Amino acid sequence: MVKKICGIGAGYVGGPTMAVIALNCPSIEVAVVDISHSRISAWNSDKLPIYEPGLEQIIQQCRGKNLHFSTDVEKHVYEADIIFVNVNTPTKTGGRGAGKAADLTYWESAARMIADVSRSNKIVVEKSTVPVRTAEVIEKILVHNSNGKVEYQILSNPEFLSEGTSIQDLLNPDRVLIGGNDSLKGQEAIQKLKAIYANWVPEDRIITTNVWSAELSKLADNAFLAQRISSINAMSALCESTGADISQVSCVLSKNTKLGSRYLNASVGFGGSCFQKDILNLVYICECNGLVEVANYWKEVIKVNDYQKSRFVKKVITSMFNTVSGKKIAVLGFSFKKDTSDTRKTPAIDVCKGLLADNACLSIYDPRVSEEQIRRDLSMNEIPWENSIMAEAMRFDGTKQVSVYEDVYEATKDAHGICVLTEWDEFKEIDYQRVFESMEKPAFVFDGRNVLDVDKLREIGFIVYSIGKPLKQWQSC
Ligand code: UDX
Repeated sequence: MVKKICGIGAGYVGGPTMAVIALNCPSIEVAVVDISHSRISAWNSDKLPIYEPGLEQIIQQCRGKNLHFSTDVEKHVYEADIIFVNVNTPTKTGGRGAGKAADLTYWESAARMIADVSRSNKIVVEKSTVPVRTAEVIEKILVHNSNGKVEYQILSNPEFLSEGTSIQDLLNPDRVLIGGNDSLKGQEAIQKLKAIYANWVPEDRIITTNVWSAELSKLADNAFLAQRISSINAMSALCESTGADISQVSCVLSKNTKLGSRYLNASVGFGGSCFQKDILNLVYICECNGLVEVANYWKEVIKVNDYQKSRFVKKVITSMFNTVSGKKIAVLGFSFKKDTSDTRKTPAIDVCKGLLADNACLSIYDPRVSEEQIRRDLSMNEIPWENSIMAEAMRFDGTKQVSVYEDVYEATKDAHGICVLTEWDEFKEIDYQRVFESMEKPAFVFDGRNVLDVDKLREIGFIVYSIGKPLKQWQSC
């Protein structure tokens, strides 16, 4: 009987996942541990460290009952029957595989700590996305560092939640994937984890595989979704050159039951902590296995994403008479998608840096992202991946030319142009007549998410550029 679960890592995956387990398994004690004191105290406060619709209610319901947040990592690992590892696996920034391979430093230290403190058999669950065959490495670390009395079973149980809808995704998942060892003990461990999910997930949605299939499925899943966005974004470029309309093309494709209807929205590019990182990881694995053609195939998905961002920047600059130098440009939206405060790999970073490199003055407004976060993101010099066409912009730190506003009308006042970079619902409700009157003329709108009513904006007097839409009026200006 599983009595106690410990989740290591209190981030975007760990926090919500463990909270939903606690909610659905009242007889199990769930502890979420992290070495970061500030993060844990935020989880124990009224202002949670992440925003997710529905999360706060669950935390209020379970915290202090069967859900606890703590920095006493070792105590809770020692007591747990099952340990979920939800730590970060960023892309390596130095050494072999830099810019592509996953950095397993946090994972490795978690495994060594588990081996140090464990005195009873444990099931160790990989939740964070990891390179294929990580379970093997983790098992070696655990086995070689334990006293021989403790048995470990490693399971791969990748998380498929999306930010912004994580609670809904966790409460009603389309599938739960559990990969385990073929041995009898491996199968027993799978059944134990399956029984936990079966408290709220229908059994036919719980898929069991071997460990390697589960690990690879997660990478493949993200790679396929990202590839779909790059495919529609590549089509959007062609639409702009031919007069076709990407929304109409997407609509036609979405009615094809063989294709399905989701992930067909053209955009300024995909962002988020997973897509690029996981594809680069996949590329690295392919290269390590001598599969150069396969690696190159997946690299193109990221190349098209970079192309989409740089195409957008170019469009803004060329349409504003080939220079944005000294011009105020309002940026609406900074998070990588709506309903989240997360800015990891948000296309807004590259687009802003591209505009700053051309000496634009940016006034940024996002309903959820703090000024501190925006400044941190824009001053960071990320290592570009090997073929990045955004490399030059990514090195640019122009935070002095940046102002951050809490009011959309202040942000757009006296601006020459507006760039919509996140599809926040509230951007549809803005009084664009008022905005237009306060802007320099001609007033431009660049809709990087195709969320605005183009006809209405054009009626007001804006010059509007949308992704993958006919540019008739545009050309006549
Ligand atoms: C993704 C996967 O969906 C999820 O299964 C996995 O567990 C983690 O990675 P997430 O990063 O939260 O989830 O965001 P998602 O909703 O998939 O969007 C990723 C990016 O693609 C966002 O920047 C989004 O704006 C963009 N996107 C999405 C598009 O540009 N067009 C679309 O049609 C869909």
